[in-house]
Amino acid sequence: MWKYEKRLQYPVNISMTNPKLAQVIISQFGGPDGELAASQRYLAQRYTMPYKECKALLTDIGTEELGHLEIICAIVYQLTKNLTPEEIVASGFDKYYVDHTTALWPTAAAGIPFNACEFQSKGDVITDLHEDLAAEQKARTTYDNILRLVKDSEVADPIRFLREREVVHYQRFGEALRITQEHLDSRNFYAFNPEFDAPVFCQAAPPTPGGNDCGCGK
Ligand SMILES: [Fe+2]
Repeated sequence: MWKYEKRLQYPVNISMTNPKLAQVIISQFGGPDGELAASQRYLAQRYTMPYKECKALLTDIGTEELGHLEIICAIVYQLTKNLTPEEIVASGFDKYYVDHTTALWPTAAAGIPFNACEFQSKGDVITDLHEDLAAEQKARTTYDNILRLVKDSEVADPIRFLREREVVHYQRFGEALRITQEHLDSRNFYAFNPEFDAPVFCQAAPPTPGGNDCGCGK
């Protein structure tokens, strides 16, 4: 379960509306490398994660991504507040507005709605962690692209904070991969999925109370 804290992880106080920019930044809500996908990716993957340190890390980062989703929604909301119909038409925001008014709805910048194919929960720790490492870099690239388009520091500062967190998450998933490889070091991990397969015991070793996996790979 979660406890909600009624504050943003990084403050968002935007004094000017900019619906054109909002249409770009909303991609980090419902786009292919956005915060909604990130949170659901990690919070779904953790159930079958076999190692408790990595399970805790997925819960921790997945929870933080929910906080990032909230920051993105606050930015989009503030950039589209109190618009006139003329401003909506002039900025090209009309196509979004006609279906959602100025409510938050998860979509990519190009108008493709969010769907679960944006993330994977594969049930194989090596596969999932590589997806997570790639996801963090893709999110970092998206934030880099957004920062090239944003000039206003009121918008750029929280985006820079979010970008930095992607770098930290990438490093933490690197740690998780190292922990996983240490756990699997005595076996050929390409032939053994600890999220699904029962351990394969070595036929050459005599049975022992704790199992008879001698680590030779046979
Ligand atoms: Fe992240």
